[in-house]
Amino acid sequence: MSITSEEKIGRKPFELLFDQRRLATVIAELADRINADYADQTPVLLGVLKGCFVFMADLIRQIQLPVEVEFVSASSYRHGTTQESELAFNGPLSIPLTGRHVLIVEAIVDTGRTVDTIRKRVDVLEPASVEVVTLIDKPASHRVKLDIKYKGFSIGNEFVIGFGLDNTQRYRNLPFVGKMIDLQ
Ligand code: IMP
Ligand code: MG
Repeated sequence: MSITSEEKIGRKPFELLFDQRRLATVIAELADRINADYADQTPVLLGVLKGCFVFMADLIRQIQLPVEVEFVSASSYRHGTTQESELAFNGPLSIPLTGRHVLIVEAIVDTGRTVDTIRKRVDVLEPASVEVVTLIDKPASHRVKLDIKYKGFSIGNEFVIGFGLDNTQRYRNLPFVGKMIDLQ
């Protein structure tokens, strides 16, 4: 068994940013707006895996509308926590979205390239509407022009983990959002 440096020094490499109560409050507010804006409609919630799974599970349980749930899998292969990344999708978007009200569900928007690319792939299918909901936005990091209608939190350029978000595939199971810190 390998011992990571964090275990060796007995300290966590992250600190609390948003606790469970704050997350629940903000997610309930997002759901309220969605309930009002999509009244009498059956939107398709299109989750962006993997990060969305915790946020989306909480969000849909606060939505009192008939909704359909679909997922798209996008991986941005990045080197550590830097912004250099390459986007990879699991094949073409083959979900029938023509004439549907589509709500793209992201956990975090950083450069905005992932959401922008997915939105363009949805647009060609001629949906009735497309909007984006993200739990966390990093507005200063956007590299493309984006219209994000629903956002839970705005943060700076810190790297955050937990509540579905990973650092090299770890920490997704933390029930809160933390930010990575340098333990040096
Ligand atoms: P974008 O395409 O640069 O907007 O990147 C979005 C994707 O990068 C997200 O779906 C996450 O997978 C990942 N990402 C960006 N910032 C963070 C962060 O602070 N913590 C964890 N993952 C992040
Ligand atoms: Mg990731």
